[in-house]
Amino acid sequence: MSTELPESTVAPADLPPTAPTRRTFMATTTAVGGAVVAGGLVAGTSPFGAQEAAAAEVPPTSRVSLTVNGKRHTVTVDNRTSLLDLLREHLGLTGSKKGCNGGACGACSVLVDGRRVNSCLTLAVRLEGGAVTTIEGLGDGDQLRPLQQAFIDQDAFQCGYCTPGQIMSGVACIQEGHTGSEDEIREWMSGNICRCGCYVKIVRAVEQAAGRK
Ligand code: FES
Ligand code: FES
Repeated sequence: MSTELPESTVAPADLPPTAPTRRTFMATTTAVGGAVVAGGLVAGTSPFGAQEAAAAEVPPTSRVSLTVNGKRHTVTVDNRTSLLDLLREHLGLTGSKKGCNGGACGACSVLVDGRRVNSCLTLAVRLEGGAVTTIEGLGDGDQLRPLQQAFIDQDAFQCGYCTPGQIMSGVACIQEGHTGSEDEIREWMSGNICRCGCYVKIVRAVEQAAGRK
């Protein structure tokens, strides 16, 4: 006597609720396949998607014309390029130093239209038509600017890393007339950090160039 149940005794209601039928299997695989194809387009696995993705990855650029140390330059830069990187990476003017790259140390100080700025915080594309002066453009050939000479006379540096920024800021400090006292000089030079601690001599140098000594 056979113990096998006849096929008709397994009613659909007796199947587990998740058991796939041929119809649901085909529907599921079609939907998943479509999603994979669509995902491939978005991720750039097809030629068309790759072009779109590549275009999306190219950062926007701009042309900017500006004068640096009396010389006109026109460059095309990534819109996010700082003035400091424009000077150092595009124009090869490495006198301006990158210390913190965040506006806290003053090592990157330069003059823009006669006013001191932290070049690491200044977007290059905003300087269309501007005039930039860096430490390289301060002297006149071998003729040092009075503050440059004063830094030598007062021995106002050790490692020298902060010195270009100190001098650019000091020049502006003198031009702005903020040299009435030692305290005033300290206050208006406070954005320039010297890790070697040459502050006393830096103030003396600014006083010398300003004619206070
Ligand atoms: Fe610009 Fe420090 S590098 S402020
Ligand atoms: Fe070294 Fe100023 S001289 S950081």
